[in-house]
Amino acid sequence: MPEIFVSSSELPESAIAILRDAGDVRVWDGDGAIPREELLAGVATADALVCLLGAKVDAELLDRAPRLKVVANVAVGVDNVDLAAAAARGVMVTNTPDVLTDATADLAMALLLAAARRTTEAERWLREGRFERWAYRDFWGMGLGGKVLGILGYGRIGRAVGARGAAFGMVVRGLTSSATPEEIDALVAESDVLSIHVPLGDATRHLVDRRRIGLMRETSILVNTSRGPLVDEAALAEALVAGRIAGAGLDVFENEPRVHPLLLDAPNATLLPHIGSATREARTAMAELAARNAAEVMAGRQPPNVVVGGQEPGARGRT
Ligand code: GLV
Repeated sequence: MPEIFVSSSELPESAIAILRDAGDVRVWDGDGAIPREELLAGVATADALVCLLGAKVDAELLDRAPRLKVVANVAVGVDNVDLAAAAARGVMVTNTPDVLTDATADLAMALLLAAARRTTEAERWLREGRFERWAYRDFWGMGLGGKVLGILGYGRIGRAVGARGAAFGMVVRGLTSSATPEEIDALVAESDVLSIHVPLGDATRHLVDRRRIGLMRETSILVNTSRGPLVDEAALAEALVAGRIAGAGLDVFENEPRVHPLLLDAPNATLLPHIGSATREARTAMAELAARNAAEVMAGRQPPNVVVGGQEPGARGRT
């Protein structure tokens, strides 16, 4: 029987059951994030690794896992995995697209609305006991009708956010990954709301850098539900605190779980702890899909969601 190592005890039984049909399952049963040493020990004899995005799958780990055939990430983003190192070693990498598209797009919309209507700032004010009367001038925000929703990364999630924005009367402009730097600059400059839906890689780190933040308007809003390092967080925090842009809705941060201290002080930022896919439906489906991906590879078949193709199924670890 192949050996399957699961890096977290938090996955639902429905996913573990899929894996049990495919091999001997070992689940790391500690609390919280798996420590590096336990992850390395866990993969030493494993044929499959099912992991969360906190697990760093790099060359060192892959070298410590000579039998490993597949890394089944329970996430659509795979920036925690060194894809080149996996490809070089013939290890397949899979992810969990589609099942989290709506959940993530819903959360992007929640952040967009929160920033446009200043709900974080207004709620804090209420909780501080300052709501003494209804006031005509309090907490004016931005109406969405006719405003430009710029979407950097017009893939599955970007398009789903666009559809939601259109339903709110926004004018949607999306750019795919083939956009030129000049097209990106133009979108940043014309957007009333800029929402980021780009995978993180070497080419996209600080895609929204200090210069591009400088192109945004004073009335504009930035939403990021993709990956923190796509944005220069220090530059964004400074722009928010100085009022050089109107607001931000952020679900992801450059050095998670740390958040830039200036952001924590910015009243016009809504900050969430990376919960884009955190609906019962999406998170359950993600775990089950990752399990199916791993199970298919263990059975010598092509899994549904391949990011990096491995060797001919079953070849690695035979010798
Ligand atoms: C979550 O951030 C994911 O990439 O699935």
